Amino acid sequence: MNDLILKALHGEPVPRRPLWIMRQAGRYLPEYRELRKKHSFEELCEQPELAAEVTLQPLRRFPLDAAIIFADLVTPLAAIGRPFRFNPGPVLDRPVRTAEDIENLPEPEAEEIAPEVPRALGLVKQELGGKAVLLGFGGAPWSLAAYLIEGHHVNGFPTIRAMAAGRPDLLGELLGKLARLTAKYLVAQHRAGADAVQVFDTWAGLLPLEDWKRLARPHLHWLLEEPGRNGVPRIMFLQDAPHLLDAYAALPSEALAIDWRTDLGSLRERLGPGKALQGNLDPAVLLAGPQVTRAAARELLRRVPPRGHIVNLGHGIMPETSIASVEALLAAVHEEEIRS
Ligand code: CP3
Repeated sequence: MNDLILKALHGEPVPRRPLWIMRQAGRYLPEYRELRKKHSFEELCEQPELAAEVTLQPLRRFPLDAAIIFADLVTPLAAIGRPFRFNPGPVLDRPVRTAEDIENLPEPEAEEIAPEVPRALGLVKQELGGKAVLLGFGGAPWSLAAYLIEGHHVNGFPTIRAMAAGRPDLLGELLGKLARLTAKYLVAQHRAGADAVQVFDTWAGLLPLEDWKRLARPHLHWLLEEPGRNGVPRIMFLQDAPHLLDAYAALPSEALAIDWRTDLGSLRERLGPGKALQGNLDPAVLLAGPQVTRAAARELLRRVPPRGHIVNLGHGIMPETSIASVEALLAAVHEEEIRS
């Protein structure tokens, strides 16, 4: 069993650092693009056999240490009557904006929440045969609410920020519902085979620290404790929010994953040992080719102590990335000698 990631999550020594890549199943892979000629993104997500196949594609090509289940951040929102289309990002025809909208959102049981995802996890688990750790994932309440309220990606998501300012009570009600939805969804993913889960808070950085503490933190904290009580290791991903880093480090999760803007070595020094760190090569570095990628990966390994480090990019791999750059990243990580 390759449990390098679980070891790293618990701060145990490892013979080499584990590595996986955010958005590792996706458009930079020729075999994914082939499948996308025949199926829409929605079809790939909805059919467990297809989702399992796409999840496994990067593992067939590269010796990665995790498989992450193929789905989207907004996938579970179909269970509260808000199915998204993709064009190419999430689009919602009926955004959630009024008191009535929020009150009327149902609170589904675990087995009603994107049941195709646990099914796909079961299929992947069987095929993986312990070759890599299997990751489930979900969205933090604030980032899910940003899409629900805005309806699609708008720079800076002003509508949710207006609600945070004008109707914090309503926003709180929505965030509570989303936390309960995601907690059930993550535990269901664990029961179906996910060894650990990652919670994405891509848009947290839009809130100033004091507002985040008051509005978003209580719901996110509660959400993370639920899988924790069920023995599920948690990775908390935060994007573009240096002002929130210490607050996120204090949340109940085994690991903190961050984007490329923060120096991971300095963060390790500041936080001390005790929490695993994941990241954080700039995905754009891979576009500069394999040699540059290898050098940048080595520099990352030099700056960050190996104990409790899961190597990853600081955000999703870009569609234009060459296979050779991914191989160079893998080579840099695999050739490192760890003296313990
Ligand atoms: O990491 C993986 O390989 C697992 C699959 C995964 C997808 N989306 C598949 C996907 C995961 C973990 C996500 C999470 C997700 N989705 C986030 C959080 C992480 C982050 O990127 O910050 C967010 C914000 C989304 C929303 C989303 N979905 C956007 C903005 C887009 C379009 C632009 C883009 O980055 O691709 C999507 C569509 C999407 N989700 C694709 C994939 C493979 C592209 C679909 C296609 O055209 O084939």
